Amino acid sequence: MNKIISPSLLSANFTRLKEDIELVERLGVERLHLDVMDGHFVPNLTFGPFIISQIKEVTNLHLETHLMIETPDKYIEDYAKAGSDTIIIHQEASLDIESDLQRIRNLGKKAGIALNPDTCHKTLRPYLDILDYVLVMSVYPGFGGQSFIESSLDKMEKIVEMREDRNISIGVDGGVNLDTIDSVYSTGIDITIVGSALYGADDVKRRYNNLIK
Ligand code: DX5
Ligand code: ZN
Repeated sequence: MNKIISPSLLSANFTRLKEDIELVERLGVERLHLDVMDGHFVPNLTFGPFIISQIKEVTNLHLETHLMIETPDKYIEDYAKAGSDTIIIHQEASLDIESDLQRIRNLGKKAGIALNPDTCHKTLRPYLDILDYVLVMSVYPGFGGQSFIESSLDKMEKIVEMREDRNISIGVDGGVNLDTIDSVYSTGIDITIVGSALYGADDVKRRYNNLIK
């Protein structure tokens, strides 16, 4: 099985961000996961389009921007301009999901929905034909380094089944590490987001190889 890992920069060292990006580029990753938090939708604050546009200047990796923010419609354009390739809004934060997804696509970007652990997979159904990406949260969003919520495995399987033959990627975000990664991939999902279990390792290369093997 081809395991695609999208490293989450939330666990990188922001005083040497460029080096930490190059470190995972050398491992052969294709994408980077950027966690945007607004201190309202989640109880934490991270970075915005200004930092993302600087990240874009130092890498050609596909940038998936996970917007953990209220009223994402107000900011979609800013995150597109900053250089995001995929923009993921939260189902629970959007005031008009269909219009937000369409807006993302009209800007030439891939459109994603993230689902919190308590949000039912069935809520995705109306959007399956206008979606490029589903991000299944396996922790409550807001912080890196939390424990994986086991019951999210069942939701992953259901979303894989719901996708049928549509061209939708399914990612899993939160608590993915050496102990959980195999059960996550066994559900049929495509991409895992890994933050602390990758950047927190003493030997990041060795850890990456152990995660994908
Ligand atoms: C959580 C973020 C995640 C986080 C994952 O709110 O969306 O992307 O960085 O971190 P780990 O891998 O440490 O659980
Ligand atoms: Zn994330």
